[in-house]
Amino acid sequence: MNILLTGGAGYIGSHTIIELDKAGHSVVVVDNLVNSSEESLRRVSQIIGKPVPFVKADVRNAVAMNDVFNEYSIDACIHFAGLKAVGESVAKPLEYYENNMNATFVLLDVMRKHNCKNFIFSSSATVYGDPAIIPITEECPKGQCTNPYGKTKSMLEEVLMDLQKADPEWNIVLLRYFNPIGAHQSGLIGENPNGIPNNLMPYITQTAVGRRAELGVFGNDYDTPDGTGVRDYIHVCDLAAGHVCALQAIERKCGLAIYNLGTGHGYSVLDVVHAFEKANNLKVPYSIKPRRPGDIATCYCNPAKAKAELGWEAKYGIEDMCRDSWNFQKNNPEGY
Ligand code: NAD
Ligand code: WQD
Repeated sequence: MNILLTGGAGYIGSHTIIELDKAGHSVVVVDNLVNSSEESLRRVSQIIGKPVPFVKADVRNAVAMNDVFNEYSIDACIHFAGLKAVGESVAKPLEYYENNMNATFVLLDVMRKHNCKNFIFSSSATVYGDPAIIPITEECPKGQCTNPYGKTKSMLEEVLMDLQKADPEWNIVLLRYFNPIGAHQSGLIGENPNGIPNNLMPYITQTAVGRRAELGVFGNDYDTPDGTGVRDYIHVCDLAAGHVCALQAIERKCGLAIYNLGTGHGYSVLDVVHAFEKANNLKVPYSIKPRRPGDIATCYCNPAKAKAELGWEAKYGIEDMCRDSWNFQKNNPEGY
C-alpha cells in the first residue's frame, strides 16, 4: 500500500517508516517539523537505502494536504502529527486543542474527498486516566484525563468512532500506545526532545551522557512495590511493527478497532534506572523529588487483544530498550 505518515519525521513515525518499508509498503511523509528535523528522514533513507518522499507542510493546511493527495495515490494514512508535551499542554491549552483537533479534522475531510477511508490514529494510554482495571484491557472504561494533551486524544477517539459509525466504509484503528522508549539498533535515529526532557528515558540518557546533573525521581510513596511509578515501557521498533499489523487489519476491512500496544509488563522508575545501569554498565545519579502533578501510580496493559487479532506482540525486553536508547544518545550526544 501507499501510506501517508503525518508527523513521520518524529520519533515514532521515523521508526515506523522502516517497518513499513520492510513489509513492502511505500510511504509519503508530511510534517511541519515543529518538533522534529529533516535529519531524521535523511537517516531513515540511509537505513532503508532509498529516499523518503517528504512534503514539508502543516496538516492544518487543507490546500497543501489536498495537493499531497492529488500528487500521490494514498491508500491509508497513519496520523502521528500532534503536539505531545503534557506540561506544555497545561500552559498552552488553546495551542494544543487547536493543533491536534484541527489537524485531524482537516486531514479526515481531505481524505474523504479523495475517497481514502483507511486511518490509523496514534492514541495513548493516557485516555484511561487513572485506570479502573490493571492490567488495562481495551474494555477498561476511559478515565478522566488531567491535561489538555490527553483530552485531545480522548476527544479525537470519540470523533473517529462517530465518523466510522456514520460512514462504515471507513476502517479506523485506534492504537493506544503505552510508554515508547528505545531506538533503532543502528543508533542513527531515536528520541530527540527539544529542551529539558519531560519523559523518563530521555532524561536518563541525557544524565548518563552528562547533559543533566542527575535524574529527579518523581515520588517514592506511591502504592507500588518500591514506591515509584510503574509503567509499561515498549520498544519503539515493536510499536512501529504494530502499525504494519494494524494495516493488515485495515486490508481485512476491520471497521473500527481499538488496540493497546504495550508489553504487559510494569516497571518502576527505579527498575528502569537499574536496568539501564546494568545494560550499559553505567551509573545514573538520581535523587527522590516530590510527586509530579497529574501522575498516576501504575499503568500497564494486557496486550492479549493485539496478539489474538493482529498477531502482534512485543519482542524486545527492558534491557534491549535501555541498550538501544543509550546507543542512540551516545552516538548523538546533542541529538540530531
Ligand atoms: P513527535 O513529536 O516526535 O512526532 C510528532 C510529529 O508531528 C513531529 O515531527 C511534529 O513536527 C509533527 N507535527 C505536529 N503538529 C503538526 C502539524 N500541525 N502538521 C504537521 N506536522 C505536525 O512525537 P512522537 O513521540 O513520535 O509521537 C507521535 C504520535 O504518537 C503523537 O500523536 C503522540 O501524541 C502520540 N503518542 C506518543 C507517545 C510517546 O510517549 N511518545 C505516547 C502515546 C501517544
Ligand atoms: C514515566 C514515569 C514519572 C521523568 C507520558 C504521557 C503519556 C504518554 C507517555 C503521550 C512516571 C517518572 C519521569 C523524570 C521521573 N505520552 N519520571 N522523572 O507520564 O507515564 O506518560 O508519556 O501520549 O500521555 O503522560 O511518562 O516518561 O513522563 O514518566 O521520575 O524526570 O517516570 O513520574 O512515573 P508518563 P514519563
